[in-house]
Amino acid sequence: MPIYLPPFSRRQFLRRTFVSAAFLCSGFSVFAALARRDPNSWALLADTHIPADRAQKARGINMADHLAIVCNHLAVLPKQPAGVLIAGDCAYNTGESGDYRLMGELLGPLRKRRLPLHLILGNHDNRERFRQAMGYLSDFPSPVVDKQVAILRSARVNWFLLDSLESTNSTPGHLGEGQLDWLAGALDSNQSKPAIVMVHHHPSLQVSTGGLKDTQALLDLIRPRKQVKAFVFGHTHLWKVQTDPSGIHFINLPPVGYVFREGMPAGWVHAAVERDGMTLQLRCIDSTNPAHGEVAALKWRS
Ligand SMILES: [Fe+2]
Repeated sequence: MPIYLPPFSRRQFLRRTFVSAAFLCSGFSVFAALARRDPNSWALLADTHIPADRAQKARGINMADHLAIVCNHLAVLPKQPAGVLIAGDCAYNTGESGDYRLMGELLGPLRKRRLPLHLILGNHDNRERFRQAMGYLSDFPSPVVDKQVAILRSARVNWFLLDSLESTNSTPGHLGEGQLDWLAGALDSNQSKPAIVMVHHHPSLQVSTGGLKDTQALLDLIRPRKQVKAFVFGHTHLWKVQTDPSGIHFINLPPVGYVFREGMPAGWVHAAVERDGMTLQLRCIDSTNPAHGEVAALKWRS
C-alpha cells in the first residue's frame, strides 16, 4: 500500500486534534460531496515541500500557504475528484516528523470531504518518519520490501504508484530490482485497463541530472507493455508534457511549493480520464501566470 490517507468519517474528523474551528462551524455536508464525485477525475500534485514551521519560506514562497490554496481550489470544484495523488517531496527537506504533522493539518479539509489521498515518496521524504507521523497507516503492508508501492484501481485506468526514494535528501532516485519485478508482474496481471505509472523522479539516462538511476530498466519494462499509456512524475519542479516515440505520455507535474525559475508555474493538474485518453489542465496558484488553464489533450497509444 502506498502512503494512503483514508477519508475521515465525520466522527474521526471531529476527533482529530488539528480540526480547525472554521471547519467545525462550516456545516459542510460530507454526503453532499459524495454525491458530486466524478470517478474519472483526479487531482495531481507534486513537491509540496511542507516544513514543520507554518511560517517558513523557501525561495520567497510560503509552502504551507500554497498547499492551503490548492486545497481551496479542490474544495470548490463543481465535482469532487475520485482522489488526490501527490507525487512525492511531501516534506520540506529532510522529512521531519513535524513536516508531516503540518501536512496532515493542511490536508485535513480534503479528508473531511472524504477525498482519498495517495502520497508517494520523494528524495526529501523519510519513509519511517512519515509512517510514524501517520501511525495508523502502517497497517497496510507494501508488496515490495522497504518500498511503498501500490495499484490504485479506478473505473477507466489503473494507477501504479511507485517509490523512488533511495536516501533522504540525496537528489537521485532508485526503484531497484525488487520493485521493477513487482511492477512487471503487476502490469502483466492487469492488462484490461490502461495503466498510468506515477513516481517522484524524472526519467533520465544521465545520472548527473539527479533523476531516476534505473531509468533504462524502467523504460525497457513499460515501453513494450502497451497497456502503459502515461508516466507521471515531479522532482524537477517543472510543468511539461511530452510523448515518447513509443507513444507513452510523460507528464512532469508542476510543484505545489516553490519553482526553481521565476515565472514558472506552481500549482496542480486536473486530470480527466476518458475512454481513449486523458485531458490535463494546469491550475496555477497564481491565476495571472500565462500558463494557467493550459490544456493537454492526450490520446492513448494502441
Ligand atoms: Fe522537490
